[in-house]
Amino acid sequence: MARITAGVACSHIPALGVAVDFDKTEEAYWKPAFAGFDWTRAWEKEEKPDVIILVFNDHATAFDMKFIPTFAIGCAESFTPADEGWGPRQVPVVQGHPDLAWHIAQSCILDEFDMTIINEMEVDHGLTVPLSMMFGKVDAWPVRVIPLAVNVVTYPPPSGNRCWALGEAIAKAVASFPEDLNVQVWGTGGMSHQLQGPRAGLINKEWDNRFLDQLVGSTDALRHIPHIEYLRETGSEGIEMVMWLIMRGAMGKTTEMLHRHYHVPASNTAVGHIVLRPVAESDAVPANDAQGVAA
Ligand code: DHB
Ligand code: FE
Repeated sequence: MARITAGVACSHIPALGVAVDFDKTEEAYWKPAFAGFDWTRAWEKEEKPDVIILVFNDHATAFDMKFIPTFAIGCAESFTPADEGWGPRQVPVVQGHPDLAWHIAQSCILDEFDMTIINEMEVDHGLTVPLSMMFGKVDAWPVRVIPLAVNVVTYPPPSGNRCWALGEAIAKAVASFPEDLNVQVWGTGGMSHQLQGPRAGLINKEWDNRFLDQLVGSTDALRHIPHIEYLRETGSEGIEMVMWLIMRGAMGKTTEMLHRHYHVPASNTAVGHIVLRPVAESDAVPANDAQGVAA
C-alpha cells in the first residue's frame, strides 16, 4: 500500500532558485535563508521518498487567461522546466508518476473534487524552487513528482477549507493505491508577501509564525481563515498559503513537527519552512492528557 509519511512546506521565491543555480547560497545575504534547509536536505536523504505530491501554483507560465483550472493534477511521464524569461532553469526534468497520478485523479473526482487532468505541462519556479531547496544541485531529482497546481493567481482562488478537504481526499486516494510507495505531500508558496502596489514589500512575521504554530497538533483553525484575512494581513500574494493547507489536510487529524525555519529578508517574501509527520490516530495524545488533566 502507498503511505503518506511526511508533509513539507516551503516558499518558492524565484531568487532562491537563482542563488542555487549560480552558487550564491554561501553569500552573506542568502546563507541564513538556506541554513534552515540543511536539516531537511539531510533528512530527505534518509527518508528516500518514492513520490512527492507537490502542491504549487503556476505563475501564468503553463496557464494564462485562456485556462484557469482551480485544481489540476499532472498525469504526464515528465515535466520540463519552463522558460520564465531568462531561459529555462538548468535543473533536471521532473519525472512524474502517471499511475499514481491517474489513481488520485480518479479517486478525487469520484469523491466530487473535479480536478483538471494535465497530460503536458512545463513547470515554473513554483515547482522547481522547492525541489532545489530540499535536494540542492543534482543531476537528476531523486524522486518522482506529481504536480498539483492550484489557482491562487486570479480571483477567485479556492477557500482554505476546500484545500484542506482536498488534502483529505488525496490521503484517501494514496491509501488505496496498491503499490508500496513512500509518499510525501508538499505545500509551497508564501509566506507573507506583496509584489505590487503601494503595500509592495509587506511582511507580517507575527501572522506567519502563528500560521506555522497552527500547522502542528490537532487544531484545524487554519481551514477557516477567509481570503480577505490573507489579503489584509499577508499581502496580495500571501494567499499562496492556502496551498499549505492541502498538505496539512493530507496529514490527517494530528501532526507532529520535525523541523521549522523562518527567515526575512529574501527577495520580497518571508521564507517559511516546516516538516511534519502525520500522527496515527492510535498514537495521538488526547487533548486533556496533553494538558496534564486526567481524562
Ligand atoms: C517572489 C515571490 C513569489 O512567490 C513569486 O512567485 C515571485 C517572486 C519574490 O519574493 O520575489
Ligand atoms: Fe509565487
